[in-house]
Amino acid sequence: MSGSLEGNKIAAAIILAGLVGMGSGLISRVAIHSNVPETPAYAIEVPESGATQVAAAEEPAGPEPISALLASADVAAGEKAFRACASCHSWEEGGAHKVGPNLWDIVGHEKSAMDGFTRYSGALAADDAWTYENLNAFLYDPKAYAPGTTMGYRGMKKTSDRANLIAWLRTHSADPVPLP
Ligand code: HEC
Repeated sequence: MSGSLEGNKIAAAIILAGLVGMGSGLISRVAIHSNVPETPAYAIEVPESGATQVAAAEEPAGPEPISALLASADVAAGEKAFRACASCHSWEEGGAHKVGPNLWDIVGHEKSAMDGFTRYSGALAADDAWTYENLNAFLYDPKAYAPGTTMGYRGMKKTSDRANLIAWLRTHSADPVPLP
């Protein structure tokens, strides 16, 4: 009896040792596998968040508003700023569409709705009109304002340039929208 009990104990010990061995093998494998992706991801994250902080300190996160600048904006300087747009846009009344639509009367105009322009991407929401401030946001960073827009222009970052340009665009209308 005692012999077979002893035998059972030994067998149990062997099985237990095996289980522990398997178990620790499993644990160490899990530990290795879960460590592998974690380590490089963490290493990459550190410089990235550092870089984001530096960029945030140098540049404002979005466009500064222009409404308060419009009344004293330099319209002649705005005409010069429009050179950045003139390869793709005409501005005079009845001007031909180019790569982009004619911009006569754009301030206050319904979006994506210039008569006869057929190449709108649909990325500019058509449910509201162009105001001073949404033009400001669009021209600051077209792709951020309207993801998917086909307007191939990287954006006008200087606030006074946008104010001058939009003040100039405003005058190209039979009935300019009142200044804010
Ligand atoms: C490389 C060509 C190109 C340049 C440069 C460009 N645009 Fe455009 N623009 C387009 C195209 C194409 C569209 C139509 C975009 C769409 O439907 O997604 C457009 C759309 C617009 C619209 C919306 C028109 C509407 O009917 O809703 C405005 C406003 C506009 N551009 C203003 C400007 C101004 C101001 C500049 C200069 C700072 C400029 N664009 C520079 C090609 C250009």
